[in-house]
Amino acid sequence: MAKPKVFVIYYSTYGHVHTLSQSIVKGVLKPGTVDVELYQIAETLSQDTLEKMHAAPKANVPEITADKLVDADGILLGFPTRFGTAPAQVKALFDATGKLWASKALQGKSVGLFFSTGSQHGGQESTAYTFLPHLAHHGMIYVPLGYSSLYMFDNDTIVGGSAWGSGVIAGPDGSLQPTYKELEIAEIQGEKFAQIVTKLVAGTDREDVEQQQESAAAAPEEVAVVDSQSPAASAPAQLVKPATDSTSHDDTAAAADSSVANKEKGSAVRKLVAKFKKVFK
Ligand SMILES: Cc1cc2nc3c(=O)[nH]c(=O)nc-3n(C[C@H](O)[C@H](O)[C@H](O)COP(=O)(O)O)c2cc1C
Repeated sequence: MAKPKVFVIYYSTYGHVHTLSQSIVKGVLKPGTVDVELYQIAETLSQDTLEKMHAAPKANVPEITADKLVDADGILLGFPTRFGTAPAQVKALFDATGKLWASKALQGKSVGLFFSTGSQHGGQESTAYTFLPHLAHHGMIYVPLGYSSLYMFDNDTIVGGSAWGSGVIAGPDGSLQPTYKELEIAEIQGEKFAQIVTKLVAGTDREDVEQQQESAAAAPEEVAVVDSQSPAASAPAQLVKPATDSTSHDDTAAAADSSVANKEKGSAVRKLVAKFKKVFK
């Protein structure tokens, strides 16, 4: 039997959510029970506007199309906050899912969310909360992160993410890079999500998914999908970094593995555990 499929799908203007998505993928692969494919959501802003915003070049990751969503058993969807809600690019993808809604093709699929905001209280939670109607209308199952990492109780440093999903605090000018704590929370989210999808799919088999795909294809309604002609849209993504990304996401990810970071991480965790023992004794 084929393994369940998890799609990690993100939109990112400046690269923070892209970096987070790589830790998510790492976590999804951890249990070894699901296959993963990485996609990005198509840009809707003009090149001129992107240049004025000093947007980062896009990573070499294929673009998702609305009709491709049917192939996933679970979707981890990440995006930066726009005024406390999802960006228009994500909305455009979902606005192209009318045909899938009509055929109930996405019903029962699990969805987890992850985020980036400029500031600590810029709306990671409201971004999740205001996205839920999309999932409810499709009959998709929202899988929150919960308090799955001790770093989520860390009040000594800035840590993005919440019970709603992992997250990065990018800073008002985008100059903060994802920290090892944020990346670890993202990895945990990926791992937990993969375990849940595995459990949900067990007992079902891929034939059900194929049936969903057939009924989606047979649905009468014609609804536009996000640029399915894009040359990048066909192949599953490799975990490729942006070719000319001027920000140093690599450095941050590498730092997470360095012994200095691990030492610091170890002592931070020990401190948190000690605090916890006091509170919950
Ligand atoms: C139009 C616009 C609206 C934004 N609204 C918010 C906001 O409500 N709260 C916040 O903290 N950051 C806000 N930001 C900052 C972005 O969330 C930040 O650039 C993003 O998290 C960086 O992620 P990325 O590198 O993946 O694009 C906004 C940015 C733009 C361009």
